[in-house]
Amino acid sequence: MLKQEAPWLAHVPQAMRQPLADYLEGGVPVSVGLMHVLMAAESTHQARTALTQTHPLLQDEAAARRLAELIQLWDETPQACELVKRVLACVRHDDTGRSESNRLSAWAAAFDQTAAISAEAGVALYSLGRGDLLDRATDEVVAAMRKWNLLNGGIALDLGCGIGRIIERIAPEMDRVVGVDISGGMLATARLRCGRFTNIALLQSSGRDLALFRDASFDLVYAVDTFPYLVLSGGDIAERHMRDIARVLRPRGTLLVLNYSYSGNRERDRREVAAVAGAASLQVVRDGTRDFTTWDAVTFQMVRAP
Ligand SMILES: C[S@@+](CC[C@H](N)C(=O)[O-])C[C@H]1O[C@@H](n2cnc3c(N)ncnc32)[C@H](O)[C@@H]1O
Repeated sequence: MLKQEAPWLAHVPQAMRQPLADYLEGGVPVSVGLMHVLMAAESTHQARTALTQTHPLLQDEAAARRLAELIQLWDETPQACELVKRVLACVRHDDTGRSESNRLSAWAAAFDQTAAISAEAGVALYSLGRGDLLDRATDEVVAAMRKWNLLNGGIALDLGCGIGRIIERIAPEMDRVVGVDISGGMLATARLRCGRFTNIALLQSSGRDLALFRDASFDLVYAVDTFPYLVLSGGDIAERHMRDIARVLRPRGTLLVLNYSYSGNRERDRREVAAVAGAASLQVVRDGTRDFTTWDAVTFQMVRAP
């Protein structure tokens, strides 16, 4: 919780206080911390001024070290603030009143735009547009998938595959990987990135459901930072996908969801996942854990009954 009396707060605009305090308390990866602070800032100048004025006021050594690390990352990534603002401008929607197909088309267009601005930031804003930061985060996700025994051959579906960064890494370990995405722009980049593999397929989906696929056709379905957009799309899109995932999974097949929503409320996500997974007859075996150092994702793993 933010300590309202901390002297450093005086130089920090209201909107930046909580994300900065969360980062300074520790536990938030530096690129995620910088992303949140920049998202909350009104401008590059405002963020830069607040951070440089805050640093000498921090009495806690660990917090001062963390802030120095954040400022250094920003120095090494000078375009970070402008990029964060440009990508955010594409994916901010207040269109809950529109029809489902209009909402989904708006998301497809938004992700086409973000892919054109920066493939890396378009799929993971915390990469700040840097290939090396995205690679590090991807390595960590794939290592976790391997550790959890999810990459032992079989057929996988990447739901919301984006630029195909996960497919590219896991294709050598699987019999076949299919990626679906609502955005043609994302898929065009994925095709370039993964074109050398003969055991993959990349398909554009309606975003409504997984009607493209037959029952019991996958051993693994994974969704890396995709469910939050299904949830944001409103209606019953997230529930429908969960039911459809249960349908396309083989008995004992696994669903891995990294981030269910962007609510920031892990207990609420746990309750919602329990409800939608339960309704789809999927058993939750990893219930909202934090497993990464490069990314603050929350993991849910589910299994289809034998
Ligand atoms: C934050 S990006 C993550 C991409 C990829 N999973 C990754 O981690 O690199 C979210 C992706 O979900 C896709 N997406 C959003 N809504 C979708 C839907 N209803 N159906 C399929 N894909 C969707 C977007 O086009 C975008 O590529």
